[in-house]
Order: sequence, then structure tokens, then C-alpha cells
Amino acid sequence: MNVQTSVKASRETNEVTETTEMAKETTLLSPRFYTTDFDELDRVDVTPIRESWDEIMEELRSDPNKNHFKKNDDWDSVDFEAIEPELRKELIDFLVSSLTAEFSGCVLYKEMKRRGSNKEICELFSHMSRDEARHAGFLNDALREAGLAVNLGFLTRKKKYTYFKPKFIYYATYLSEKIGYARYITIFRHLEKNPDNRIHPIFKWFKEWCNDEFRHGEAFALLMKTDPKLTSGINKLWIRFFLVAVYATMHVRDHARPAFHKALGIDIDWYDDRVYRVCNEISRQIFPIEIDLDNPKWKRNLGRIREAFFALDKANKRGGFIGFIMKVAPGIKALSAFISLYLMPMKKNQVPDNPRLAPTF
Ligand SMILES: [Fe+2]
Ligand SMILES: [Fe+2]
Repeated sequence: MNVQTSVKASRETNEVTETTEMAKETTLLSPRFYTTDFDELDRVDVTPIRESWDEIMEELRSDPNKNHFKKNDDWDSVDFEAIEPELRKELIDFLVSSLTAEFSGCVLYKEMKRRGSNKEICELFSHMSRDEARHAGFLNDALREAGLAVNLGFLTRKKKYTYFKPKFIYYATYLSEKIGYARYITIFRHLEKNPDNRIHPIFKWFKEWCNDEFRHGEAFALLMKTDPKLTSGINKLWIRFFLVAVYATMHVRDHARPAFHKALGIDIDWYDDRVYRVCNEISRQIFPIEIDLDNPKWKRNLGRIREAFFALDKANKRGGFIGFIMKVAPGIKALSAFISLYLMPMKKNQVPDNPRLAPTF
């Protein structure tokens, strides 16, 4: 399904549903839509990584998941009404948040393809936007079944866009693609062993799905490899910032869905730690540093950030002057925990000349 058809599909539901509003919301933790300096991106020269580039483009052209995102006999229907309310709320939140993240990639990649004139860069972004449109469309099919489809056309027009310089897009998107891979494969492997915990059929599609995300991450690793400055000098401080921000966001978001993870039979701390370790191992392909997950400060300060965010959420719900006052202490706590994580000594990596990896988890 391409972007046009997925947007068209969403227009079947012209109304702005509650889930559309959820997806449109911009908070510190919700998935965002991005825009960037497309002209700068257009000037990228892939000559230094030609061989690996041709390989990944060949894979993307071959479109291995062309027929994957279709419902078949494996798709058991779900009666959302029969699900206990807390779990239903968190399952919907998971589907909407995943859809927003997938569609965010689709919108950004499609825009690059539309605006650029660099044949190679445009082709890459065209393949990646094709994949993300399929992912978002498939998640929206799952929501549509419950009468909760997100209006993607409305979202494209109305959601706030955050501007990031291309190098920040590389760091943030590379990490979110690789974390996406690690999350999907970890859930898939867990449910392979525990099929009774599969609360929704969509998880059966995660194995092939996560390979798309892995490939997208490979492409961003190669884009970073075109310019050694992107992963050295002062930029190592930016990589450190994005590692801490992306990992901490995942920790808080996942802990906000206790009923969902309980139903899947997943211990959230185990799951997050597993995802961080997979992501650390993969990102050695391009990042010269990684978070030391065994430093006791890591878990301690993640916990402080989580407590602070939950308190901030409570204050936001309360609103008014009292709500504002309630935000001061957790705001300071979140910032100080984030700074502690940022200042933690990082582990150093010897980055290989050729970054290419295969999805082996
Ligand atoms: Fe995706
Ligand atoms: Fe992706």
C-alpha cells in the first residue's frame, strides 16, 4: 500500500476519532512528526560507501515484504469490547502510538523523495516510505476493526512538525529504526514461546516486519558513514544525548502500560533491558560510544525519570494553578535524573570500516 492509498483508506473515516486526537497530541513522550533541511540531505554523496549502498538498495528494490502485510487465516478476529477496560485502553494506546511512529517515518521519507533531486537519496527514501506506509496501514486496519481507525490525512495536515537538522534526523531515526527492530523481534520471540499470551494477531506479523526496520536502520548507518565527522568530535556528545533520550523515553512509555505487558506475560524491566542490549550491540556498527547498562546509576536514574514523568502527568491532568505548582518538583527531578544519565561514563566502541550487519536476533 502506498501513502496515497493509505491516506485514502483513512478518509473512509472522515470523522476525527478519539484515536486521531491521541495520535495528533504532541507531548514530550508521544511520537512526533519531523521535518528537516531537505536540500542538505539532497547533497549527500554515497560514493565513499558505494558497495554497501548498492547492496542495501538491491535489497530494498527486491521488496521482500511486498505481500506480507495482508490479513490471512492467521488473523484471528479480536472482540475489543470483551477485553477488560484497562487492558483495552493500553492495547489501543500501543496500536495508536505504534501507528503514529510508523506514519511519522512515512511522512518524513515521502517528503524527502518528493523534494529531492539526488536520484540515489530519493530512491532510498521512496522505498522506505513505501514500507512505513504499509506498516502504518496495517496497524490502522487493526484499529479499524475496532471502529478506531486514525484519520491519516487529517494527521498529516494537523499534527505539529518538529524541525531537526539532518544529522539529528540520522541519530534519532537510526536509533528508532533499530529499537523498532529490537522491540518487534523481542516480542515475537517471546510470543513464539508463549502463544497463549498473544492478545492480538498483529504480533504474528512482527518477524518479517522487523526486518524492514532493520534494513531502514542499515540505510541510516550508511548515510552516517558518508561523512566521518557525523560520528566523531563534538557529534559524539549529540549521539550520547540521543541515546539517553531515546532509551529513557522508551522506559517511561513502556512503564505506562502495565496491564498490556502483564497480558503479554512480559516483565517490562526485562524487556527494556533486552531491547537496550540488542540495540547497543547493533549500534556498534556506527556509534563510537554506547551506554553502560551495567552501571547502577543507569537503572536508578531511569526509575527517577519515570517517577517524575508520572507525577508530571498527574499534574497535567489536574491542570490550573495547583497543577502548575505540582509540576515544579517533578520537573526538577526529571531534569536532574536526565543530566545524571547524560554524564554517566560511556563505553567506547571500535567502529568497523564496513558497517553492514544482518538481523540475527
Ligand atoms: Fe516501520
Ligand atoms: Fe522503519
